[in-house]
Amino acid sequence: MAENDVLRHDAGKERYMVELRNVSKIYHTPKGREIRAVDGVTLLVPKGKIFGVIGSSGAGKSTLIRLINVLERPTSGEVLIDGDDLLALPERELSRKRRSVGMIFQQFNLLESRTVFGNVALPMELAGVPKEERVKRAAKLIARVGLSDRIRQYPESLSGGQKQRVAIARALALSPKVLLSDEATSALDPANTEAILELIRTINRETGITVILITHEMDVVKSICDEVAIISGGKLVEQGPVREIFSRPKTEVAKEFIRTTVTTKLPSDLEEKLRKDPDGAEKAYLRIFFTADSEESPLIHAASEKFGDLFDIISSGIETSSGVKFGSEIISCPAGISAAAVAFLAARHVSSEVLGYV
Ligand SMILES: Nc1ncnc2c1ncn2[C@@H]1O[C@H](COP(=O)(O)OP(=O)(O)OP(=O)(O)O)[C@@H](O)[C@H]1O
Ligand SMILES: [Mg+2]
Repeated sequence: MAENDVLRHDAGKERYMVELRNVSKIYHTPKGREIRAVDGVTLLVPKGKIFGVIGSSGAGKSTLIRLINVLERPTSGEVLIDGDDLLALPERELSRKRRSVGMIFQQFNLLESRTVFGNVALPMELAGVPKEERVKRAAKLIARVGLSDRIRQYPESLSGGQKQRVAIARALALSPKVLLSDEATSALDPANTEAILELIRTINRETGITVILITHEMDVVKSICDEVAIISGGKLVEQGPVREIFSRPKTEVAKEFIRTTVTTKLPSDLEEKLRKDPDGAEKAYLRIFFTADSEESPLIHAASEKFGDLFDIISSGIETSSGVKFGSEIISCPAGISAAAVAFLAARHVSSEVLGYV
């Protein structure tokens, strides 16, 4: 092997906490049909980052995460955690190494028969951590997630957000290098969602733990992830730093997810008047989506030059994420030119939709 290859491998070991190399997972239905739940995915998760994996229902997110925590073996490809090929290890060694991956779930998966303390201490009991150390560490973790006053309570007396805090403390019990989160905030209300994401972010900053966060919500990605991978139909369709994906989404799937984070609304009186049918209408209302470097004013300017001063900006919602501007604007124009306007924008790689006519 060339010296370069050796160096390259070492460099990889330094930089990436999780590496998936051309990983596929194929299931077979009882009728023998193949389901490619994960299809040829190559993914590099840098150490210490919060890495988002986003996809719609059935995209293969949970399957992917089960491959990373080695609960499932890939049909083909390699899975490396901190440079180690876990699947090549004998079973005993594997279960020890598995401790380097902690996990939290949408439904918390707490043991109802155990107290907060009992839940957090469980992984340490199973791993044979001595009692004194167990007690000390569990108390410290429970304090870390802000639940010291609930330590003797049972899960049924806790709110969803509190249950997820217990689950986070439990996931951290054996000091993992990676924390996997499968839709951990999907069952929570917006306030608890924000608090749990904030807690994950703080733990990431304080401990340097690598986080892989599975979600179907782009708002979650926007609020805490450094990088994001988008999967669709088991395939990885786009991957990169969050700000880059927001500023230059390449695929329609990515654009669609970004659109869901954009909330510009029509004034409600106008919304009530809006019709779907352009016949006899005077004005059309359009929503335009900006993805950062498509600056809004030169575009409207160019549109005005082409169509005359026919566009009015009704409302504008430009947001900033990681220093990148993106958002949407609602404009009106004469109904007769709405189709031409959409085509004009599309030619400049700006997506838009006709909301209706008045
Ligand atoms: N054990 C299994 N046996 C057969 N098919 C499976 C199995 N697990 C998952 N699948 C199929 O693989 C595909 C991906 O499923 P997966 O649960 O990974 O999606 P997901 O992105 O997590 O979806 P959701 O957002 O609904 O949780 C789906 O078509 C699913 O039906
Ligand atoms: Mg899932």
